[in-house]
Amino acid sequence: MRYRKLQTTVCIYDSAKELPEEDQVLLLQAGKAMDMAYAPYSQFRVGAAVRLSDGTVVLGANQENAAYPMCLCAERVALGNAALNHPDQKLLTIAIRVKNEKKPVPEPAAPCGSCRQAISEMEERQQQPIRILMQGDDETLYEVQSGQELLPLGFNRQFL
Ligand code: THU
Repeated sequence: MRYRKLQTTVCIYDSAKELPEEDQVLLLQAGKAMDMAYAPYSQFRVGAAVRLSDGTVVLGANQENAAYPMCLCAERVALGNAALNHPDQKLLTIAIRVKNEKKPVPEPAAPCGSCRQAISEMEERQQQPIRILMQGDDETLYEVQSGQELLPLGFNRQFL
C-alpha cells in the first residue's frame, strides 16, 4: 500500500488593498453581479466577474427557479457568458463574491463541485489556468491559482 498526497495552496489576504488594482476592480464588479443575483428561494446571492485576456470583464450571477435543481450557479453563468460572447479570449481570473441574506458569511465561499468541474474543463479547453479570488462579507480574500487546485484528482477528458 502507498499514499499519494494531494495538496491545495490557498493564499489569504486580509484586504483587497494587498492585491493589484485590476483585481480590486474585478472584486467590485463581482459585487455588482452579486447584487443582480436572482435568489428568492435561498437568499444566497453569488456574483462572479471574469477578467479576459483583452481586459474585458464578463459577469455572472446565480439564477434560481422554483424547480430547485434548475438553479444556475454564478460561476457557470459567467463561464458561459465568456465562452459565447468572447470565444477568442482566454479567461484569466474569476472573482467570486457571496452574500447570505439570512446570516453572515465570515469566510469566503469556494465554488461548488460542479463549478469546480466546469472551471477545470475551461482550463483544459484554453490550455491555461484560471486564477480564482473569493470573498465573503469580510475583507478577507482567498486566492487559488487554478480550478484544478480546487479539484485535485478531478475527472477529465483523458479518461474518455
Ligand atoms: N451557488 C452558486 O451560484 N455558486 C456556487 O458555487 C454554489 C451555489 C448558488 C446556487 C443557488 O442559487 C444558491 O447559491 C444556493 O445554493
